[in-house]
Amino acid sequence: MERKRVYKIGEFAKKARMPVSTVNYYVNKELIRPQKVTPSGYRLFSEESLNTVSAIRQLQAQYLPLEEIRKHLKAKGKLGFKFFQTTLSFPEIEQPSVTFQFPSTRYQGSKLKLVEWIWQNIKHLDFRSALDAFGGTGCVAYMFKTKGKQVFYNDILKSNYYIGLALIENDHQTLTSEDLRLLLEKHPDIKYPAFIQETFRDIYFTDEENAWLDMVIKNIELLDNIYKKALAYYALFQSCIIKRPYNLFHRKNLYIRMANVKRSFGNKITWDTPFPVHFVRFAEEANESIFSNGKKEKAFNLDVFDIEGQYDLVYIDTPYISSKGVGVDYFEFYHFLEGILNYNQWGNLINYRSKHKSLEHKKSVWTGKDLIHNAFDRLFNKFKDSILVVSYRSNGIPSGVEIMALLKKYKREVEEVKRKDYKYVLSNNGSEELLFVAK
Ligand SMILES: C[S@@+](CC[C@H](N)C(=O)[O-])C[C@H]1O[C@@H](n2cnc3c(N)ncnc32)[C@H](O)[C@@H]1O
Repeated sequence: MERKRVYKIGEFAKKARMPVSTVNYYVNKELIRPQKVTPSGYRLFSEESLNTVSAIRQLQAQYLPLEEIRKHLKAKGKLGFKFFQTTLSFPEIEQPSVTFQFPSTRYQGSKLKLVEWIWQNIKHLDFRSALDAFGGTGCVAYMFKTKGKQVFYNDILKSNYYIGLALIENDHQTLTSEDLRLLLEKHPDIKYPAFIQETFRDIYFTDEENAWLDMVIKNIELLDNIYKKALAYYALFQSCIIKRPYNLFHRKNLYIRMANVKRSFGNKITWDTPFPVHFVRFAEEANESIFSNGKKEKAFNLDVFDIEGQYDLVYIDTPYISSKGVGVDYFEFYHFLEGILNYNQWGNLINYRSKHKSLEHKKSVWTGKDLIHNAFDRLFNKFKDSILVVSYRSNGIPSGVEIMALLKKYKREVEEVKRKDYKYVLSNNGSEELLFVAK
């Protein structure tokens, strides 16, 4: 009898022309399921699941949310496995380390893998409101939201502020399949601009991708609800980031994507996965993370020194300066997303001396090794009436000892917690993660 072919996850992803992370995502969503698991723990996927992936693609082209796709496939008996009658037993399949429903992200310095550890170290504290002052992806603010706190999110980048609006302040709006259709289709009555196509040729994305960006950005204007708009920007930003080498916009390096050289398979597939596929997936993930905890949350787009109000607890996760004095300039890394949010003025904001057409911007105190001690001092003073929780790394400027001394100027009790085994997403140096809790 002819034996049916099965594939390990890497082979399956290659056959299906999708990243391994998407295969895992489909497994988590119960759209596909490994046919069996070998004694050594390898999951094996069948040809049938490949057919399911093709069916999913066809339905995605109609902008159906995955939940509806799953129902549809189940009704047609096309899920590639028998949903409720399976007798297979599965050993633990790797799950994300956090249990809450936060969408995936590839943001520099994200604490997504650390939120549970942070919570374990502060859950005993008595606080009802929390400000995430350097919010970034919003995963820490989101963790506070899941714990029933009243949450205030802030970030100086407008692109991050929109994430704060979409995932923190928003408590019920989602993107429907009609919204997705409105966003992802070309409308004959609209005259689409070509700013990205004309300005960013050969810099970050292909011509076709640039044209798609010009279209979707224009279509976002058609949404009339601010949180829906924010969700659309969220999905767009994540899609832009995931298709970039290093997930950044700090260089003109489209050629890395296009070069015909041997490289890690996963990256190439992720970069070449069309924008609409990424977009729908991120919109789905964001939709699933929206909830209300019964409190009124708020997102701000301010320099941290301009924040007003009183908060029981302030979480501080500033940009990091390495021991060599190299600071992370977030504006430089993500200027393209800031440009998208200033689309109509973008041309006037660009620094045309930079090959990668970055935006003009001032150096921040958080990137200057001679300025950052004073900045921390001012910040701790500003929020001295709140519980302060500070994240930093052991091999940075200021050092852990210096941060401790600065905190002690304003707070009676300061505890330092270290975590050894955590590695940052974009670096391998395994430096220690520090958490200061000051009361
Ligand atoms: C280390 S990241 C925070 C990461 C975040 N905790 C997370 O898990 O995603 C630092 C953030 O501070 C923001 N930022 C930089 N300068 C700032 C300022 N002066 N005021 C407020 N936010 C600032 C950056 O845009 C960046 O998102």
